[in-house]
Amino acid sequence: DGEVYKYYADGEWKTSSSGKSVAIMNPATRKTQYKVQACTQEEVNAVMELAKSAQKSWAKTPLWKRAELLHKAAAILKDNKAPMAESLVKEIAKPAKDSVTEVVRSGDLISYCAEEGVRILGEGKFLLSDSFPGNDRTKYCLTSKIPLGVVLAIPPFNYPVNLAVSKIAPALIAGNSLVLKPPTQGAVSCLHMVHCFHLAGFPKGLISCITGKGSEIGDFLTMHPAVNCISFTGGDTGISISKKAGMIPLQMELGGKDACIVLDDADLDLVASNIIKGGFSYSGQRCTAVKVVLVMESVADELVEKVKAKVAKLTVGPPEENSDITAVVSESSANFIEGLVMDAKEKGATFCQEYKREGNLIWPLLLDNVRPDMRIAWEEPFGPVVPVLRINSVEEGINHCNASNFGLQGCVFTKDINKAILISDAMETGTVQINSAPARGPDHFPFQGLKDSGIGSQGVTNSINLMTKVKTTVINLP
Ligand code: G3P
Repeated sequence: DGEVYKYYADGEWKTSSSGKSVAIMNPATRKTQYKVQACTQEEVNAVMELAKSAQKSWAKTPLWKRAELLHKAAAILKDNKAPMAESLVKEIAKPAKDSVTEVVRSGDLISYCAEEGVRILGEGKFLLSDSFPGNDRTKYCLTSKIPLGVVLAIPPFNYPVNLAVSKIAPALIAGNSLVLKPPTQGAVSCLHMVHCFHLAGFPKGLISCITGKGSEIGDFLTMHPAVNCISFTGGDTGISISKKAGMIPLQMELGGKDACIVLDDADLDLVASNIIKGGFSYSGQRCTAVKVVLVMESVADELVEKVKAKVAKLTVGPPEENSDITAVVSESSANFIEGLVMDAKEKGATFCQEYKREGNLIWPLLLDNVRPDMRIAWEEPFGPVVPVLRINSVEEGINHCNASNFGLQGCVFTKDINKAILISDAMETGTVQINSAPARGPDHFPFQGLKDSGIGSQGVTNSINLMTKVKTTVINLP
């Protein structure tokens, strides 16, 4: 209806002076669903100035008060799930139920963060000098954690609310101010979420949400001199951000090629259901999705049959109807996935289902007998396609996993816990799940990628620590 969602700055909803807007496509209907403001570089400058000054007084606000406001925001968020959940369905085609889950999880994350924050930030250290050679007990050292300043948060399309909140809450509890740049698809969900923080009554300028094209304001934001920390989740744009960013802490999660190693003693029903959950939930559009199955040849036929039977039961269709498989986020993403599928076809992979696509909707597909010369053995489809590579030894599986440029998570299925732990130690990934599909949550667990999967660890506690610096005062006695 032509309405353009406003951006949020200085505690108010504003229209950009650019007079331009950015259209947000509904992945399922491929029609414009919403429009948001195309903010200008001047507006970014203004927001940064506000963030800088608001942070100064926020840092002096008692920790318990910061926590109280976050708890309030969490409660408001949970009481107002509908607009966020609805826009998640429309902007990113996330199934309706999962959209609600994302919002609830986000509320819980904010509350947890407030609680964790008052504990870890409420505690400092006291050191005595005489433990180090040559010193008497004449120096008392007091340490505490202080905020960094302005944190720039850039979440991805797949969890616009949750992965925004997972950056906002730790930043705020630690006394930082926050500038949010939502993904284009997911921007309206983010704006609704920011409204919950607005209603909670945070000081003006402390939180802002700036919308627009990454190509126009992306570099300007990430290279802005006022920014003291960047927390980014997304694709390999993160690598270029990290090259351009200044001397500031970076927290980046940039995708994965999570392997699922299946030993011959594994419970194959458990493996099959985890491949379905891990590989096909939200149509495979998760960094932590199972992106390659490495199964021992001796059990491969049986496993593939079991997964095939479960794939046949997946529903495909609109997110409003809670279909298991929904349209992928964009036409270019669907084209990319199709490219990987066609490459595998030319090179002789076994198609367990017929390949089918309508618009951005791609039917779930299991590819067996994938070989290392196929692109899908290495590349991240971010779609409902799962490749199966048959292996003849566990080492072959570990080698394939470690040859990847990614190193986010992985999983191993076996009843032998000793073997599982040795395999986990050998896998060059940030996390290894034993007998379950990869997953970021529960959200207080550490979450980090090795290699091109990112830098810095996430999870509530690690994020709070990453968004602080240590400050020391030394009392020198005569
Ligand atoms: O894709 C983003 C990543 O954070 C995945 O989260 O909860 O699906 O494991 P989750």
